[in-house]
Amino acid sequence: MSDDVRSIPKRMPSDWSPPVPAWSAQAPKERALCIAYYGIQVLEGTCAASVSEFRSWFQVLLRLPDAPANCEYAEFIDSQGYYTWLAIAYWQDANSYDRWSAGAAHQNYWSAPQRLQGAGVFREVLQVPGERIEMLQSNFSQKAGAARVCPVPHEPVREHNYWGGMRDRLAISGQDPLLATDPQALSNPSVEGLSGRHVRIRVPGNVAVIRSGQDFSDLQGDEWALYSQRIEPALRDGMDFLARHGQETGCLSSRLLRETDAMGHRLSRSFGLAHFVSLQHLEDWARSHPTHLRIYNEFLAMAQALGGQLQLRLWHEVAVLPAHEQVFEYLNCHAGTGLMAHAGVSTFISPHDSGVQA
Ligand code: HEM
Repeated sequence: MSDDVRSIPKRMPSDWSPPVPAWSAQAPKERALCIAYYGIQVLEGTCAASVSEFRSWFQVLLRLPDAPANCEYAEFIDSQGYYTWLAIAYWQDANSYDRWSAGAAHQNYWSAPQRLQGAGVFREVLQVPGERIEMLQSNFSQKAGAARVCPVPHEPVREHNYWGGMRDRLAISGQDPLLATDPQALSNPSVEGLSGRHVRIRVPGNVAVIRSGQDFSDLQGDEWALYSQRIEPALRDGMDFLARHGQETGCLSSRLLRETDAMGHRLSRSFGLAHFVSLQHLEDWARSHPTHLRIYNEFLAMAQALGGQLQLRLWHEVAVLPAHEQVFEYLNCHAGTGLMAHAGVSTFISPHDSGVQA
């Protein structure tokens, strides 16, 4: 959107010139992107066959018509000791996702009675109109996530390196303050003992989702030492803080993941994945909470120590979700999984309504 048709002004200071360049991929304005996180969770050391089956199933799905244009993978151990592995798939057009997920190869696995026994599986599927997603990357040629399915202009973006840059990069922010539509979303009690259940969460409008990535493949010497000893521990603490202080921060879910290949072999890339009640809650944490400021300041200190010559590549994508079309579905997962941790009883649907045979 051109600046003169905005009813809400940008936060960018006048005559702003960022001290370092960054690039911003542009989502198509006329349609919605789809970002689908498909996960499997197993108690560490158990159900290896289920994880293999899940990976094989996903590889088959990637060869079908309407398959995603990009797929990445990641793993983490959650707060309850469950190994979780994710496939993160990106479509340029949400209609393709609808057709792909309605196909027999998808449904035969997802709707099978076995999904309510043994390993838990879940999907968190975001359908995001182009005006509600923004992307930022510190290196022009290194693309990740949604930027692999959207064009990245050669011209660096001006809207970064000041607090409020993220909001300014969201096209919709010129007209919409993107306020929380349900600020009480966190006040419902969490529910225990859901094993064997099929859970779908209704997400209030304007929930903000960030995937904030770090590519440390090329780090050596002093840079690797500073990253692994100063920045990575700060990042881990920050994500852990968010996971444990949802009420205080408006964070609905926080995970720190390590990327892998399609077979589960680790890569030198990680990302934080977090959901907040609103963009404002995410902004508040980033700009003023000691845990993000520590990450941020450690990064600035490293850049200064190395004279700005960094191999570390940072990127992120932020989506502010409309209330409709979002799918947060958990099959046989423990009660602390994803958005379930903060969901109330009313959000659960019975197996009779679910399409999954109990
Ligand atoms: C090693 C990890 C991280 C580093 C080095 C880092 C550093 C930075 C830097 C340098 C900026 C300013 C970017 C710009 O506008 O050019 C920034 C912004 C931001 N960071 Fe982080 N960050 C990290 C992880 C995270 C994580 C995990 C989250 C969220 C869960 C996060 C949330 C944000 C947000 C929301 C902004 C934008 C604030 C705004 O524009 O108003 N960061 N971070």
